[in-house]
Amino acid sequence: MWQMASGQLSRAGALACTGCRHACHVMLYCDTKTQLFGRLPIRHIILMQMRFDGLLGFPGGYVNPSEETLEAGLSRELLEELGVALPILVEDHVDCCHAPASSPYSSSRLITHFYVKKMEEEQIREMERTAASTATDHGQEVLGMVRVPLYTMKGGGGLAPFLSHSFIGNARSKLVDSLLRLDLVAPEELHTALAHSLKLHA
Ligand code: GTP
Ligand code: MN
Ligand code: MN
Ligand code: MN
Ligand code: MN
Ligand code: MN
Repeated sequence: MWQMASGQLSRAGALACTGCRHACHVMLYCDTKTQLFGRLPIRHIILMQMRFDGLLGFPGGYVNPSEETLEAGLSRELLEELGVALPILVEDHVDCCHAPASSPYSSSRLITHFYVKKMEEEQIREMERTAASTATDHGQEVLGMVRVPLYTMKGGGGLAPFLSHSFIGNARSKLVDSLLRLDLVAPEELHTALAHSLKLHA
C-alpha cells in the first residue's frame, strides 16, 4: 500500500462523509513486449478513454455507497464502459480526495476514488475488443478506449503530446503519479515529457 500524503482522505474517512457523492475510476495496465515499428518498446499498456465531453479520463463512474460497495460500483461501471465484469478489490484502492469546489464559498461534495489494477496483457487486449463491441456505453458516454504512449520519439512525439491534451478532474495528475510510483517511465524521461507538454499546451 502506498503511503497517504497529508491532507488526503482515507477510504474509511471518505465513506464516513454524510451527504458526499462518490466517483471511482481505475487505471488498468499490463506489461508488454510489443514494439512500435518493430523497434521501439512500448513497455506497458495503460487504458484510458476519450469521454463524451472530449476529455480524457479513466474508466469508472459514480457509485452510491448506500446501494453497493465502492468496488462493486466500480466493477459495474467497468461492465458498462468496457463490457467486462472485472472484480475490483479494496486492496486496489490507491487514494481519494475531494474534487475541487466550483466556488470558493462552497466545499466540494464529490469525492473521487482512484484505483490501480495490474492485468495480464491478454486481459487488456480482450477489454479493448469488448469495449468497442459489446460495452453498452460505447459510442455514447465513451467514445473509445485509448492507450497511453509511454515513449518519447525523436522530435518529441509520444508521452509529451499525450499529456498536453485536456483531462477530466485530476486524471492527468493521477496518471503522472502512477507512472512515477509504479516506475512505468523513467523519472528523467517523465520530467522532460511534462515540461514539453506544458509548452505544447500553451
Ligand atoms: P453517468 O453514468 O453518466 O453518471 O457517468 P459515470 O457514472 O460514468 O461518471 P463519470 O465517469 O463521468 O465520472 C463522474 C465524475 O467523476 C465526473 O463528472 C468527473 O467529475 C469525475 N471523473 C471522471 N473521470 C475521472 C477520472 O478519470 N479521474 C477523476 N479523478 N475524476 C474523474
Ligand atoms: Mn459510466
Ligand atoms: Mn464513466
Ligand atoms: Mn454511471
Ligand atoms: Mn452511465
Ligand atoms: Mn457521466
